[in-house]
Amino acid sequence: MASDAVGALPDENGKQRLIVLENAGMIDPEDIESYMAVGGYATFNDVLQSMTPPEVIDQIRNSGLRGRGGAGYPAGLKWSTVGKALGAQKYVVCNGDEGDPGAFMDRSIMEADPHRVLEGMMIAAYAVGASQGYLYVRAEYPLAIKRLKHAIKQAEKHGLLGHNISGTPFSLSLQVRLGAGAFVCGEETALLASIEGRRGQPRPRPPYPAESGLWGCPTLINNVETYANVVPILREGAEWFAGIGTERSKGTKVFALSGRIARTGLIEVPMGITLREIIYDIGGGIPDGRKFKAVQTGGPSGGCIPAAHIDTPVDYESLKQVGSMMGSGGMIVMDDSSCMVDVAKYFLEFCMTESCGKCVPCRVGTAQMHGLLEKICEGEATLDDLEMLEELCDMVTNTSLCGLGQAAPNAVVTTLHFFRDEYMAHIVDKTCPAHVCPVSRKEAVQ
Ligand SMILES: Cc1cc2nc3c(=O)[nH]c(=O)nc-3n(C[C@H](O)[C@H](O)[C@H](O)COP(=O)(O)O)c2cc1C
Ligand code: SF4
Repeated sequence: MASDAVGALPDENGKQRLIVLENAGMIDPEDIESYMAVGGYATFNDVLQSMTPPEVIDQIRNSGLRGRGGAGYPAGLKWSTVGKALGAQKYVVCNGDEGDPGAFMDRSIMEADPHRVLEGMMIAAYAVGASQGYLYVRAEYPLAIKRLKHAIKQAEKHGLLGHNISGTPFSLSLQVRLGAGAFVCGEETALLASIEGRRGQPRPRPPYPAESGLWGCPTLINNVETYANVVPILREGAEWFAGIGTERSKGTKVFALSGRIARTGLIEVPMGITLREIIYDIGGGIPDGRKFKAVQTGGPSGGCIPAAHIDTPVDYESLKQVGSMMGSGGMIVMDDSSCMVDVAKYFLEFCMTESCGKCVPCRVGTAQMHGLLEKICEGEATLDDLEMLEELCDMVTNTSLCGLGQAAPNAVVTTLHFFRDEYMAHIVDKTCPAHVCPVSRKEAVQ
C-alpha cells in the first residue's frame, strides 16, 4: 500500500464519521484493484445498468447534498439544470484548485482515493448527459495530479472510460488540467476560462456555467469533496445520507484543522457538530495552557468566530449567522497570543495579492483597506481612518464582481464586530494587547 496517503486524525472519542475519507489510508490509491476490492466502481456499474439519468439526479436531490466548494449550492439542483439544458455537447468539471491558506482537504482526497473522485464524476456525467470531463488541479499538487492521471489510465484499461461503456450508449473521456496557483482560478468562471486556454479571470454571472460554461456549452462544475460524496449516496441511498447532519446541512464535512491546537490534521465530522467538540474533543484543545481566542473558518473569504460562539453548530446557516462561512473546510484555531487586527491584515493581504485586477472596487479597495490596517498596526491611525475602513468594507463587499472581492472584507468585518476593543487599543491607546504589531515595539522603546 502507498504509505503517503493521508487519512483522518484518530477518532478517539467517536466524534468523527468517515464517509468521504472511508478509504483514505486503507487502500492503495495507485491500484484500481485495491479500490475495486472495497466495492469501487460497483455503484457506477449499477447506475449504468439499472438507473435512468433523472433517477440518479433525484437521488442526489433527495440526499440534500450541497456543494462542498464553499457556497453550499444544492448539488441536485445544479445537476438537474445541466441535465435539462439543451446542447449536443455537455461537460463535467471537477474543481481541485484549493487555494485557501492552510487547506489540504481536496488534496488529501485526490491523493488518497483518486478513483472515488473519478467514479463520482462518471456518475455525474451519466446523469447530466456529458461525454467529456476535466479535473482542474493546481500544479502545486504533483502527487494528486500523478495519481489522478494514473487512475484515469487504469479506468480506461478496465473499460470504465471510453466509448460505449459496459455496452451502453454512454461514453466519457476524462482529462486533467493544471492550474498555475492563482487563488482566483478556483472561482468557477475563471477556472473555465483557464481550461479554455484564456486568462483566468471571472466574468459576470448569469449566464451560469450550468447553462453556458466551457466553450458556451452546459457544464456541471463541482468540488472534489462534492464528487467524493456521490458514490456513498447512490450506494446507501439518499435517505441514509439525509439522515446524517442537520435539517438543512446533510452529510459530513472534511476539515483541515490547523493553527494553535494540540492535534492538527484532517477530520471528517457530521454536520451539526459544535466548534467546541471539534476543537477540544477531536483537536485536543489549545496547547501550552493558553486560552482559546477565535477560530477562522471559510478560508480568506470567511470570518473569525470568538470564544463566546464556540458552541455554534457547524452547518452552513449557523456559521453564516456568526459572520463566517463553511467555505471549503479550512479551520484555523487561534489562542490569546494572536492579535486580531494582525489576523485581519493577513487575510486581507492575501485577498489583495490574489485580486485579479479586473474590477476597481477589489483591485483598489483591498489595497486601500490594507494601507489602513497597516496604519492601525503601526499605531498611526486615527478614528477617521477606522470610519474609512468600515466604509471601504461596505463598498468592496457590495460592488466587487466576484466572490473574491465580495468576501475579501469578511475577516475585517468579523474582527471589527467581535474584537473592536483591539482596534481601539491600537488607535486610541497606541498599544497592541497581544504584543504582535509594530506599535508594541514603538511602545517598548518609549
Ligand atoms: C475566489 C474564489 C475561489 C474559489 N476557489 C475554489 C476552490 O479552490 N475549490 C472549489 O471547489 N471551489 C472554489 N470556489 C467556488 C467555485 O466558484 C464553485 O462555486 C465551486 O467549484 C462549485 O462546486 P460545489 O457546488 O461542488 O461547491 C471559489 C470561489 C471563489 C469566489
Ligand atoms: S472581485 Fe477581484 S478577483 Fe474578482 S473579478 Fe474583481 S478584481 Fe478580479
